[in-house]
Amino acid sequence: MEHEVIARCRALAECTEEPGFTTRTFLSPPMREVHALLTRWMEQAGMRVHVDPAGNLRGVYDAARPDAPRLYLGSHLDTVPHAGAFDGILGVVMGVALVEQLRGGRLSFHIEIVGFSEEEGVRFGIPFIGSRAFAGGPVRDTRVDHAIGAFGLDPTRMAEARADSAALGYLEFHIEQGPVLDSLGLPLAIVDSIVGQSRLELRFSGAANHAGTTPMHLRRDALAAAAEWITVVEREARAGGDLVATVGRIEAKPGAGNVIASHVNATLDVRHAEDAERRGAVTRLLSCAGQIGARRGIDVCWEERLDQAAVRMDPDLSQFLQRAVAPHPVHRMASGAGHDAMIVAGRMPAAMLFLRTPGGVSHHPEESVLPEDVGAALEAGSRFLALLEAQYG
Ligand code: GLV
Ligand code: MN
Ligand code: MN
Repeated sequence: MEHEVIARCRALAECTEEPGFTTRTFLSPPMREVHALLTRWMEQAGMRVHVDPAGNLRGVYDAARPDAPRLYLGSHLDTVPHAGAFDGILGVVMGVALVEQLRGGRLSFHIEIVGFSEEEGVRFGIPFIGSRAFAGGPVRDTRVDHAIGAFGLDPTRMAEARADSAALGYLEFHIEQGPVLDSLGLPLAIVDSIVGQSRLELRFSGAANHAGTTPMHLRRDALAAAAEWITVVEREARAGGDLVATVGRIEAKPGAGNVIASHVNATLDVRHAEDAERRGAVTRLLSCAGQIGARRGIDVCWEERLDQAAVRMDPDLSQFLQRAVAPHPVHRMASGAGHDAMIVAGRMPAAMLFLRTPGGVSHHPEESVLPEDVGAALEAGSRFLALLEAQYG
């Protein structure tokens, strides 16, 4: 089964906006192919499938009794640009495989697999669009509503994306996306907590002019101001213990080699396990941007896209998971990456299982998983279902 899981992830990685790479943003055309393939596998496993108004793919495997509570398994279906084949999608494909392994046997709880439509925040700079609707706090943004409508869904019915209130919890399988398990030689880890993150977009506005005729002291170069600020972002994070801060995307306008840039849009991503440290760093970095702008005659403004607090996973559900993993060494760790589980945790108990990421390489085409680790995670998942059945059956 582990080879089938990996083959399915690789097949889904072919659904892309950009031939030769895996790039699949929120409700982009290839998301329909992903929905079609997963729907086929879910239906073959005996599930009822629909797409909710947030674009989340939902597959339900009914319990023996209709009034049973519900266990959610899931992760996200969107990707970063030039992604690997496993970030997000592995958690969804693993969920389908666990249902298949039941071979039609019914449990005393429903299992619902959720393929979240959006987690990465690539298309609109707003992450967790799918899981926020699921958790009952949907994103309100006209661009998002328009994309939902263009995909043939109805954003006014967003409340239908909400999770069932009778939920046992949410379990997410995900690759670690870092080097810790690989360096320890371990296949799996239980996630204790997920660090908080801030996402912002800044705009530096100066004046375009001729690159050959405008003396250096008479320029208002938005790109030079942004560049100075980016070096401050890196320096601040390097000096700040566990703080990480990233400017991952900049766009300069008008965008010609012989024109001074008048406008620059830049992203800012800041993370720390302590929310106060993270928010303090954001305030300092914005203040630096303002000072650099003032000195250079550049106007700087910004919009916050996300201020997500650090989240602890549910101790009881994680304890079940720990028992399910137990034949393997049990490692517990914090996640530096964001996950749908941190949003879902606001609505129901949530737990996460990490799989080793060879070389710690992720958000990269060479991201991989080992078949034996997928096998170990499937075993742990089956034991997790059996333990829940013993508790609630
Ligand atoms: C998601 O991959 C994130 O942590 O940015
Ligand atoms: Mn990711
Ligand atoms: Mn992910």
